[in-house]
Amino acid sequence: MINERKDFLFGASSSAFQIEGANKEAGKGLSTVDTRVVKEGIADTSVASDFYHRWEEDLALLKELGVKSFRFSISWPRIYPEGEGKLNQEGLDFYEKIIDRLLEYGIEPLVTVYHFDLPQNLVDKYNGWLGRETIYAYENYAKTLFEYFGEKVKYWISINEPLMVMYSKDFNGIRKLNDAAYQKANYQMMYHMALAEKLAFKWCHHLVPGGKIGPASAFQNIYPASASAKDVEAAMTAEELLSFTLLDLSVRGSIPNRIQKMLKDQDMYPETEEEDAGLLHSESADWICFNYYASLCAEEYRGKDDSSMPPFFRSKFYRIVSNPMGNQSEWMIFGTDSVGLRLSIYKLWQRYNLPLMITENGYANSDELEETGEIHDQDRITYLQEHLEQCFQAIDEGIPLLGYSPWSFLDSLSGREGFAKRYGFVYVNRTDQDLKDLKRYKKDSFYWYQQLIQESER
Ligand code: BG6
Repeated sequence: MINERKDFLFGASSSAFQIEGANKEAGKGLSTVDTRVVKEGIADTSVASDFYHRWEEDLALLKELGVKSFRFSISWPRIYPEGEGKLNQEGLDFYEKIIDRLLEYGIEPLVTVYHFDLPQNLVDKYNGWLGRETIYAYENYAKTLFEYFGEKVKYWISINEPLMVMYSKDFNGIRKLNDAAYQKANYQMMYHMALAEKLAFKWCHHLVPGGKIGPASAFQNIYPASASAKDVEAAMTAEELLSFTLLDLSVRGSIPNRIQKMLKDQDMYPETEEEDAGLLHSESADWICFNYYASLCAEEYRGKDDSSMPPFFRSKFYRIVSNPMGNQSEWMIFGTDSVGLRLSIYKLWQRYNLPLMITENGYANSDELEETGEIHDQDRITYLQEHLEQCFQAIDEGIPLLGYSPWSFLDSLSGREGFAKRYGFVYVNRTDQDLKDLKRYKKDSFYWYQQLIQESER
């Protein structure tokens, strides 16, 4: 099953604010993820995995792992400390060293232009993604990256998980609106990100010969909670709103008709300008990258949502609930579902007919470092193996799935839960409150993945 996969991009993923640290060093400005208030006792972005200082050692580990690609993001405020205006050459030099070393090792760089770390100055000055100015600041930043790195980097991701950016106050920095105004603002931010992304597509197509660019979707695979037609409709609506609305903007340049009506009926439809239509339709994604961890269910909305789901899963059109068939564990609270990954691949392929790439998929655990320096993470191995088998089945059925880049290469700062929750192939010796020595240890999953990649080359 694993051999004859020579061209498949086995990768590993990361993002700048979650691994780099050095959040005020070398001219870097602050971003929304640096300024957010983290719960007491939880690590912040100041050190993270200390990749900024240990990148050589880490890239050597990546080479030893044998991956064909490495997904990392460039920190927007490391390049433009204020999000716009003055360029920080030191920031560009840092990423140039990374890219050069990866290429020297025969590893394809897969670069995310923007992964949650919106420059704080853009929030202070323009209300972040609520202001149209941020669209043009992003355009200028993305263009700079293509100009500098376009010769060397061919695989690009425009925005990581616009869905999370539009909903999470920690990422978008919009903290002061009341609930109703915030809900409306979510869709305005979504719309502005879609416009920004189109400008990035345009410049990438101009400046990166042979390049590919597209978004990384936080793909929500949603099953009906029962076979009742109302539950089936609820699941369709939830999936259309949470997954396809954003992707339709990236690929087709429009919001699905049903969702347009829903948003208009609720007075949530974003403000648009006449010239936007031309831009939205002029450029399209070349590939679809997506992040998948688990599946959910939806049931008919019956007047109130008392579920324990995060606010962005709540709506008057459906009620999201956990998947009773999923396998739950301490951190994988929604329940894992490997077949759901293949079903997601089908849904994306059927709707868009574009090459696909899995840019995140991973198993969170509170891994323990043994006295021997070993970390036994069999649950992660099982999870990754089962998900990869689903990928190969889809490929064997003829779907152009270009690669699989699990989350994550290194243990890193979790989006919300610091260092207690670990996803890496490589253990980083620190806790939330104690930096220890930040030494790297290879987990059992490291050796498993290494062997799998070697077998794929036979
Ligand atoms: C994705 C993000 O949503 O999920 C990553 O792109 C994030 O940045 C990952 O780390 C896992 O989420 P969390 O909150 O468990 O770290």
